[in-house]
Amino acid sequence: MQQVKILDKDFEISIKSSEIQDRIKAMAGEINTDLKGEDVIFLGILNGSFMFASDLFKKINFDCQITFLKVASYQGTASSGTVKRLIGINEDIKGKTVVILEDIVDTGHTLEHIIRQLIGYEPKEIKIATFLFKPDSYQKKIPIDYIGMEIPNDFIIGYGLDYNGFGRNLEDIYSVVK
Ligand code: IMP
Ligand code: MG
Repeated sequence: MQQVKILDKDFEISIKSSEIQDRIKAMAGEINTDLKGEDVIFLGILNGSFMFASDLFKKINFDCQITFLKVASYQGTASSGTVKRLIGINEDIKGKTVVILEDIVDTGHTLEHIIRQLIGYEPKEIKIATFLFKPDSYQKKIPIDYIGMEIPNDFIIGYGLDYNGFGRNLEDIYSVVK
């Protein structure tokens, strides 16, 4: 499938599933080397990161945990800049190395908001792994530890990412046709 139509928009393929899997393997390799021996809990940010979290987690080769949080910041195709509160956070992260798993970091508002709240739960350390990163859109100074791919500032769907709730099931990543 080279082109798909989701609701009122056309999308064309931009990152193939095989390429996604190659990058995740490389990211997992880095994390396996860096964090072996630490008490690690992965923190998947729902909904978008569920596919990335699942694929990456399967490739982690040391004993560790995973849990999920929910936030929401997007209406349609433009970041609203307002981020709602975190749902599902608890004391489990105290003293642990937390690895945030994001599908995509765009402006960075969501990430900053999550980190600010997480600090209150006293983790030992917070690391950030995002599959996709839009450098031209990023407005924050927080360094990102693990990046799968840098992409242009276009609206994309697939591999967990949605357009108004649809398109998450696509195996490949598609960008909007302008
Ligand atoms: P930020 O707060 O601007 O960094 O946006 C973060 C959230 O917006 C991500 O976790 C996604 O859920 C969503 N998002 C950002 N860019 C896209 C996109 O191109 N397609 C779909 N969702 C996106
Ligand atoms: Mg997200």
